Amino acid sequence: MRRPALLLLAGLVLAAPLQGAAREASAKPPPAYNPPPETSRLIEGPGVDLARRYCLTCHSADYMSTQPPHMPAAFWRNEVAKMRNNYGAAVPEDAAKAITDYLVATYTEPSAGRK
Ligand code: HEC
Repeated sequence: MRRPALLLLAGLVLAAPLQGAAREASAKPPPAYNPPPETSRLIEGPGVDLARRYCLTCHSADYMSTQPPHMPAAFWRNEVAKMRNNYGAAVPEDAAKAITDYLVATYTEPSAGRK
């Protein structure tokens, strides 16, 4: 390798960290964002406190209340399992069971089969 090429290479290697520092220094804080007040609510019932604690961190109660009322109990069992296993919802086992019971009792109409 000739000397000018070597100098160029050394210059690039030395300048790289400086570029990163310059980029960090010019990064602006994210703009302030004030979301509107939450309007959707979970229906009251036994277990609603657990559902509030564990199910509203990522999305609103609309995700539950807009499901069709004829969904059977298995649907809610699968939903809670999907949230835990696929989407990373940190819901302890006993709370998951209680929340599933709450959802079935509250969001599944009796004729749909609550078993
Ligand atoms: C870690 C984040 C997270 C938590 C906590 C969470 N969810 Fe979800 N949920 C998601 C994501 C992501 C989706 C899919 C959103 C989309 O497709 O737009 C979703 C979608 C849903 C849906 C819509 C149907 C579907 O399957 O896409 C329902 C119903 C639902 N969640 C119920 C629950 C319940 C009940 C809990 C509490 C046990 C819960 N979620 C907790 C992330 C979460």
